[in-house]
Amino acid sequence: MLALRPLHPLFVAEATGVSLAEPLTAAGLAEIVAALDRFAVLVFPDQDLTDAQQIAFSERLGPLETTVKAFRPDHRARLDLHLSDVSNLDENNAVLAADDRRRMNGLGNRLWHTDSSFKAIPARYSLLSARTIPDAGGETEFADLRAAWDALDPATQARIAPLVAEHSLLTSRATIGFTDFSPEEVARLQPVPQRLVRTHPGSGRRSLYLASHAGSIRGMPLPEARMLLLELMEHATQRQFVYTHRWRRHDLVIWDDRCTLHRARPYDMRQPRDMRRTTVSDQVSSLEQAA
Ligand code: OGA
Ligand code: MN
Repeated sequence: MLALRPLHPLFVAEATGVSLAEPLTAAGLAEIVAALDRFAVLVFPDQDLTDAQQIAFSERLGPLETTVKAFRPDHRARLDLHLSDVSNLDENNAVLAADDRRRMNGLGNRLWHTDSSFKAIPARYSLLSARTIPDAGGETEFADLRAAWDALDPATQARIAPLVAEHSLLTSRATIGFTDFSPEEVARLQPVPQRLVRTHPGSGRRSLYLASHAGSIRGMPLPEARMLLLELMEHATQRQFVYTHRWRRHDLVIWDDRCTLHRARPYDMRQPRDMRRTTVSDQVSSLEQAA
């Protein structure tokens, strides 16, 4: 039986009473999905999972994304294709050098974002497992985009509800000055459209859909679009909407990418931080979830 303990007034619960290493019943799975519809972020402590167990559990929630590994043929992948390597480690488990392309790209996770909004069909859920954590720092923060929507005044809600933004990984990386992409990558990472406001099918709640990947809004002059995106981001990440997760080893945190933002916080990058993410793809574009 899943036991839930709220960790924040608006969203996020700790979930205990279940071992994710074992195959779940359909009823057990439905309990987790219902809890995600309500809390948007679930923290499962003490889930000592192998990669195969993490993948097996994640697949029960839907089809998994595969990662485009470090984008370079000279970098061998440390992990299975179904695991996103969110660590600061190379394929030999050595800490990455400061100028390593993988580390520079990974620093983009410190910008508020939601996973894979730069894909035409973005992520539904992300599952992040803490295998090795640093002594201090390296928290992950989450923001509730449903609550952020609810808190907007009605005139703003009416104005932004029909808008469609364009998301690209190139946009978020350019923000931190990381532009080392090949012509092939630039072609592959062209912007995709996403609704700025969407309805969450599981809860029926409306939600902003924001990310550092968003760089423009269809039919709006660029400076006006960027200012609107910046203002909404500032609004949505006010402290009352934010939960800070302080990791313990073997925490598994699941979040709903359709209605939350998250970002990594700094730590001493000479220490290993080994985090492994499985990502469940959505089935539809946000364009089909009009507010
Ligand atoms: C991710 C991510 C943040 C962190 O796994 O998608 O953004 O704290 N991680 O590592
Ligand atoms: Mn992320």
